[in-house]
Amino acid sequence: MICTNIIESIGNTPLVQLNPIQGKGNVFAKMELMNPFGMKDRVAKQIILEAKRTGELKEGAPIIESSSGTMACGVAMVGACLGHQVHIVTDPRIDSITLAKLTSLGCNIEIVERMGTNGWQSARLQRLHEMMDRLPGAYWPRQYENPNNPVAYSALAEEVMSGLGHVDFLIAAVGSGGSMTGTARALKRYNPNLKVIAVDCTGSVIFGQPDRSGRLQGGLGNSIIAPNVDHSLVDEVHWLNDEEAFAATLALAREQQIFAGNSSGSVYVVARWLQSCVPQHTNILAIFPDRGDRYVDTIYSHQYRVVKQIDGLVLPEEPQLVPYRTVVHSWSYARLEGVAQRV
Ligand SMILES: Cc1ncc(COP(=O)(O)O)c(C=O)c1O
Repeated sequence: MICTNIIESIGNTPLVQLNPIQGKGNVFAKMELMNPFGMKDRVAKQIILEAKRTGELKEGAPIIESSSGTMACGVAMVGACLGHQVHIVTDPRIDSITLAKLTSLGCNIEIVERMGTNGWQSARLQRLHEMMDRLPGAYWPRQYENPNNPVAYSALAEEVMSGLGHVDFLIAAVGSGGSMTGTARALKRYNPNLKVIAVDCTGSVIFGQPDRSGRLQGGLGNSIIAPNVDHSLVDEVHWLNDEEAFAATLALAREQQIFAGNSSGSVYVVARWLQSCVPQHTNILAIFPDRGDRYVDTIYSHQYRVVKQIDGLVLPEEPQLVPYRTVVHSWSYARLEGVAQRV
């Protein structure tokens, strides 16, 4: 395949079948981590191209986004490729690998120094608004509420359908909600009985848990509920704590030779557990969002795990079923039937 620029190489990621279990379901991993940077490359491409098409983003106008991870890299790549100066607002928790990627692409990085009234997120948003005032005509992709975030995953669903033909279960990590919502909506057009399993972390508010700051997991989980999370699509939610998510990520590398981030790890253990619960010929789609490189000093560092007192890497064989809204501290799951309207 010849691409005329890097944007054209986004998507069409491989679908990898994970180790089969005799007489049980099949798990297929959608390797979004094999995009140029990661899963959010799709979102950046969809949002920015659409904003250019509608005229919301003018030729050569600056783009500003608040992110410290995969979205920042996607926006930096797509924005720069199309001739826009990209400004990324972030905080001191940004890892050195992401920082190197962003600076090498010519991004302007704004690192806020102090938390705001609602933590780092509010400090970043305040700086972003100041910059929007300073840079007239600047465009902000707003991944939490932009409908083009979920729309970006229609293509992912089409790729899966053309390879697999039928999907019974979707397992996706949830942060902004875009990947879970968009993939589920598109797959449900083919199979209205699709079951959707959301994966979150303990201490995240997305599925009714009380907020806990200082979570070590990246990518999934949130302190706010993004409008792009469509709870009505979700049948079941799983929460893993930091120690379990790290253990899961290490297991993914050891058992499947996939070096990934913690959201892939959590999705993996949920998929592996589900695989053993469902009959033969059941197809489970698991989305793996990003590679492990930016986690070398955290998840993949023994020293870090010792300092954080999670070096026991305890990971239960199976999750505990709890009623929705039960406060959980370790791998648990709840069914959402009927609660969507009340979220
Ligand atoms: C590594 C990683 N995993 C999972 C997610 C969650 O995806 P979404 O925002 O589509 O819910 C993100 C979001 O930024 C991410 O960066």
